[in-house]
Amino acid sequence: MKVVITGAAGFIGSNLASTLLKRGDVDVVGIDSLTDYYPVDNKLRNLDGLQDDRFDFVDADLATVDLGPILEGASAIFHQAGQPGVRKSWGDEFAVYTTQNVLVTQRLLEAARNLDSLEAFVYASSSSVYGDAESYPTSESDRPMPMSPYGVTKLAAEHLATLYAKNFGLPTVSLRYFTVYGPGQRPDMAFNKFLRAAINDQPIPVYGDGTQIREFTHVADIVEANIRAWKRRPQPGSVINLSGGSSVTVNEVLETIAGITGKTLNVQRLEKVAGDVFRTGGSTLLASDLLGWKPSIDIETGLRSEYEWLLGLETAERQSTNV
Ligand SMILES: NC(=O)c1ccc[n+]([C@@H]2O[C@H](COP(=O)([O-])OP(=O)(O)OC[C@H]3O[C@@H](n4cnc5c(N)ncnc54)[C@H](O)[C@@H]3O)[C@@H](O)[C@H]2O)c1
Repeated sequence: MKVVITGAAGFIGSNLASTLLKRGDVDVVGIDSLTDYYPVDNKLRNLDGLQDDRFDFVDADLATVDLGPILEGASAIFHQAGQPGVRKSWGDEFAVYTTQNVLVTQRLLEAARNLDSLEAFVYASSSSVYGDAESYPTSESDRPMPMSPYGVTKLAAEHLATLYAKNFGLPTVSLRYFTVYGPGQRPDMAFNKFLRAAINDQPIPVYGDGTQIREFTHVADIVEANIRAWKRRPQPGSVINLSGGSSVTVNEVLETIAGITGKTLNVQRLEKVAGDVFRTGGSTLLASDLLGWKPSIDIETGLRSEYEWLLGLETAERQSTNV
């Protein structure tokens, strides 16, 4: 059985590929153009961890590559590729977001439309579609009102997925991820920055006063939900929240990091950034109903897993520069 993972060199895509390969019952085709949104070395390191006879990597841009031969015979497409990040999506960069998030998704949906082998097209959507939501925990039927251009592109692509399900019966499932963390997390994301700064005794940059509330979801839980979205065959066009189960403030996260690292943190407060919402938090009732999924990793255990991963990387780096 063959599955295709777009964005396979990225944070979530590489974790998903790794889990699927460990199962040993699928051939995984990973595709990624190694964009420079963050250092390409991080992506090459992710790919290094995927060496396996059952893994094929295609270095290509989804906006232009001939998708037919790549998707041929696929049972599932896990569409994780995209241009992430709320802050950079303003201004001239918006064109990159519309290409990587909207156009690429439309190309994939179009190419997947006549694939007889396809059981699931799983799209990595985002809690950013909600913006400052009407209520908490936010449910899938609440009106999406993105607060950032990034959120607008993620919502547009989600609507495309639902359209292809309604019009052509494509088995799409959009999973709205609430801030994902854990081993492999992108270097531009808060926990990664906080933990690296703590390990290296550097100042920790925090946007706003730290009272903002987030629901964080461990990448292992996100991976599990992706696999369930394929295996459980929810109604085509489904849109499902994946949120981590515990709402915490950024200040509480910092306290937990101080506890895990045993360090006194040097927190540096920065201006709140346009597009950042005050709170995210989602209902997981639908995920439980349709996928039998609920988050299994609490914030302290999850942060510890990311800390240990980063500590390993930092130690290896120090050793290689001392040689
Ligand atoms: N990390 C989170 O907290 C989070 C939250 C909500 C939604 N998401 C979504 O999940 C997906 C994965 O996020 P991530 O954090 O792993 O990001 P990531 O940047 O680590 O991974 C995305 C990968 O897609 C690749 N890519 C981008 N455009 C491409 C193109 N045109 N052709 C081929 N490859 C391309 C990039 O090179 C990158 O490796 C994204 O779609 C993101 O919007 C992530």
